[in-house]
Amino acid sequence: MTHVVSENCIKCKYTDCVDVCPVDCFKEGPNFLVIDPDECIDCAVCVPECPADAIFAEEDLPADQEQFIQINADLTPTFTTITRSHEPLEDADDWNGKTDKLQYLER
Ligand code: F3S
Repeated sequence: MTHVVSENCIKCKYTDCVDVCPVDCFKEGPNFLVIDPDECIDCAVCVPECPADAIFAEEDLPADQEQFIQINADLTPTFTTITRSHEPLEDADDWNGKTDKLQYLER
């Protein structure tokens, strides 16, 4: 099992999640973060840190977000390890809660 970053992170990327991860399993892309499923220890401390409520335990993912299990796994090798939070993306608050953001995911 692992935790998974889901769609609402796209175009927000608040990065609060990164600071609490004890195993540095977050990977950063241009407008989205993923969790390395091989490194995640399922501690769940990142879940309440995300202002966008984008992080779920794999078994708790809403049905329409299940594709993000594969997306997190697929992007882990190409995204860069991030261990410190930074400023969210510009307009993050405007994008928080918007639907159909997968089309904007930059890989
Ligand atoms: Fe994304 Fe939430 Fe982390 S918006 S970068 S999963 S704090």
